[in-house]
Amino acid sequence: MTLLDLQITHKRVVAQGIVSLELRDPQRRPLPAFTAGAHIDVHITPQLTRQYSLCNAPGETDHYLLGVLLEPNSRGGSAAMHQKYAQGDTITVGVPRNNFPLAPARRTLLFAGGIGITPMLSMAEALWAAGDDFGFSYCARSAAHAAFADRLRAAPWAARTRLHLDDGPADQRLQMARLKEEDPASTHLYVCGPKGFIEHVCQAARAHGWPEAHIHVEHFSAVQPADAAALTVRIASTGQAIVIPADQSITTALERQGVCIPVSCEQGICGTCVTRVISGEIEHHDSYFSDAERARGDQMTPCCSRGRGTLVLDL
Ligand code: FES
Repeated sequence: MTLLDLQITHKRVVAQGIVSLELRDPQRRPLPAFTAGAHIDVHITPQLTRQYSLCNAPGETDHYLLGVLLEPNSRGGSAAMHQKYAQGDTITVGVPRNNFPLAPARRTLLFAGGIGITPMLSMAEALWAAGDDFGFSYCARSAAHAAFADRLRAAPWAARTRLHLDDGPADQRLQMARLKEEDPASTHLYVCGPKGFIEHVCQAARAHGWPEAHIHVEHFSAVQPADAAALTVRIASTGQAIVIPADQSITTALERQGVCIPVSCEQGICGTCVTRVISGEIEHHDSYFSDAERARGDQMTPCCSRGRGTLVLDL
């Protein structure tokens, strides 16, 4: 795993509860290039890694720019980014990876809710630089919560953007009914933000005839099904059977029984917890494996993925 020790060259509050961090190589050497929608892993401690989208323009290799929301229920990640790190500090990150790339399309629609704006900024920059047709809708609770609003106003693509504020007049709210003016067959739609926002946009897109292949979603938290059921995990080396309650992840339930699987992101992104599955039906909820790897059915990320009935793990 390639890690980079970068310097925080600029840190500022960009909205209520949101800071931006600009990272540069200490010797000002160029950084690995990235594409729109990419993220980096920030290694906060050896046990804690968090993923943050790069929100500067792809092609800029002199710095990386992150936007970080202070999560009220932070398990240490966003609190550290807000409170532990100061301008001038060194921070350890991985090289950029992209689970949310832009697909070629006649037209592209970007929907950002809250902190979900971060990957959309680099996408808007890339689409503008390529001369592609796009629209950009950004929803925030209020003007004070709208991160990077100054950048949106100053961007050469400002005319492509619409800012929708929850506490603003009704006529400026996000109107998904406007999708009827678009052509689903030639338009790709990207959405990032809170779970409810993502569902709202995706449901509207499907209702307006969007094919699933043209709907792209960025999840930075594991997608747990609302109807998760209890299951049983059997440890292959000992035969021990452990019941996993519906409201606990497999890694949490196993740890409580003294069976520890190393975890880092706990969101199905980093791959730290990948475990071989000897038998059983897996329900994948990660964004780590490819479709082909999932189809093999022989490994899983137990920090977020589940299963039906009994899973036998190679532990
Ligand atoms: S801990 Fe990162 S994928 Fe499970």
